[in-house]
Amino acid sequence: MLELAEKMAASAAVVRRQWAETPRVGIILGSGLGGLAEEIETQATLDYAEIPNFPRTSAIGHKGRLVCGMLDGIAVVAFQGRFHLYEGNPAQDASLPVRLISELGADTLIVTNAAGGVNPAYAVGDVMLIEDQINLMFANPLVGINDDELGPRFPDMSAPYDPAMMQTAASIARRNDFVLHRGVYLAMLGPTYETRAEYRMARRIGADAVGMSTVPEVVAARHANMRVLGMSTITNVGSPDAPSETSGHAVIDVAKTAAPKLTAVIHGVIQSLASHP
Ligand code: HPA
Repeated sequence: MLELAEKMAASAAVVRRQWAETPRVGIILGSGLGGLAEEIETQATLDYAEIPNFPRTSAIGHKGRLVCGMLDGIAVVAFQGRFHLYEGNPAQDASLPVRLISELGADTLIVTNAAGGVNPAYAVGDVMLIEDQINLMFANPLVGINDDELGPRFPDMSAPYDPAMMQTAASIARRNDFVLHRGVYLAMLGPTYETRAEYRMARRIGADAVGMSTVPEVVAARHANMRVLGMSTITNVGSPDAPSETSGHAVIDVAKTAAPKLTAVIHGVIQSLASHP
């Protein structure tokens, strides 16, 4: 079997054949947020099917496309769709977009997702800056023999999300007059949404929002020593004592309405990178 590094070199070669720039930032767009890629001055697009070693994506609200181009004068790649564990992907495959971003030369990762709010102060349509994470997927993309060229055997996770980028994001939210919570993202395997008891547990163990993605990507990004900014759209609230039903389509509809806030933050963070080369 091909080693991860070899696989990524092959994937990156195919991207480079279509796009000559070296990206500084990679963006992973979650459920209902793929439209953010429209902000990019597109220079190349690749379907995941064209990228060697990439699995297919089956999740709703995910196009399965890589968009390469310029955003506010910075070369970026954006993934419209990610690989979830609940689709049957091993955790290592969930981190392939991050490995490709790193292989292409970017040192900054922006991840977005849809999540259920468990902090009672959160409302549907709010956006949360992810300031820390809990992995309850019982899987980790780094399980297996470690490739020391890619990163250390035991990566530090004391500060997975970059404090400077979080500050920039917070100031953009203030300037644009919207609430940007800061909280802990709990990753569950899915694909079921949580029971009332599980939402209650999530809150008790210190989570502010619950989702089914992102953590494997952020683990791989920290392994690769990338700077990470993460944001969750609160598409539903999991309140144990006033239960309401959740569906995938409702989640995507709300995520779309919150997209302008994420777009504003992403523009601002990219512009701050542009002014600090
Ligand atoms: N739980 C898990 N994943 C989610 C949720 C949720 O409530 N909402 C959107 N993604």
